[in-house]
Amino acid sequence: MAYDNSEKLNMSMLCKHLGAEISDIDVRNIGREVSLDTIKTALHEHQLLCFRDQELSPDELVDFTCHFGVLLPHVLQQFSLPENPDIYVLSNIVENEKPLGNRREGFGWHTDLTYMEIPPSYTILYGLEVPSEGGDTLYASLYQAWDSLKEKDKDRLRGVRTIHSYPHLYSKRVNVEPLTEEQKNQTPDVVQPAVRIHPDTGREGMYINTGDCIGVEGVSIGESESIMEFINGLYDYTTNNFSYQHKWKKRDLLIWDNRGLLHTATDYDLDLHRRLIWRTSVVGERPIAWKKDI
Ligand code: SIN
Repeated sequence: MAYDNSEKLNMSMLCKHLGAEISDIDVRNIGREVSLDTIKTALHEHQLLCFRDQELSPDELVDFTCHFGVLLPHVLQQFSLPENPDIYVLSNIVENEKPLGNRREGFGWHTDLTYMEIPPSYTILYGLEVPSEGGDTLYASLYQAWDSLKEKDKDRLRGVRTIHSYPHLYSKRVNVEPLTEEQKNQTPDVVQPAVRIHPDTGREGMYINTGDCIGVEGVSIGESESIMEFINGLYDYTTNNFSYQHKWKKRDLLIWDNRGLLHTATDYDLDLHRRLIWRTSVVGERPIAWKKDI
């Protein structure tokens, strides 16, 4: 593993494409032991940060999240933590006949909540119980993939606007309660730029998410299908060549930047293992579209 001793961080890379593990920091001391700017700079550079062995209460997880912006509660409030509705619970555990959280969230490559006009900038996962086998989280860098593309392929995507639908995404799930009218009303279709500029770094990258995408705005059906085929190819290229597999340890705290990263949960034996993850998200900005003069 490469070792980066710049600034004050004791940091090692998680893989050659993305991600860094930061040691010797209790995240409750951000702002005292280490500046938030230093953490943010590392996050923007590596896209994913892992802090091991963090002991966090729900409020402390929320405090950590608030360093990065305003909390974004999840649409499916039935899976929020009863004592703190800002935390969304991912879990297969059932206690007193009540599921502790959503057991089928996050499967399939995606970037978070492209079906919202203002998708989250950052997502945070905190592992309270993790399977000894499976239940990993995979990440893939859209930036690394983008940087490796030929200009003619980049040009094909620049200016494309994709349409995203939460009901479309949700309709693929099996054995789930139907969306309520309120949940549907909260999630009208939205249009996103397929190439996006990072608001802090100015970095250009792909912003593609096939799971909730229902087509391309402003073109014929045939052209939309052809662009979608191109995007599907880029998706496979990215996930096959620029990915990292995070094997969870108990009390890992992960934060990632959704502007240029895909991720997915992986399967595990639901009858054999327990998985309990708390998740929070931060309100981002309306994605900044690539423009000719940028
Ligand atoms: C998510 O997509 O937010 C969850 C990923 C996971 O549970 O590993």
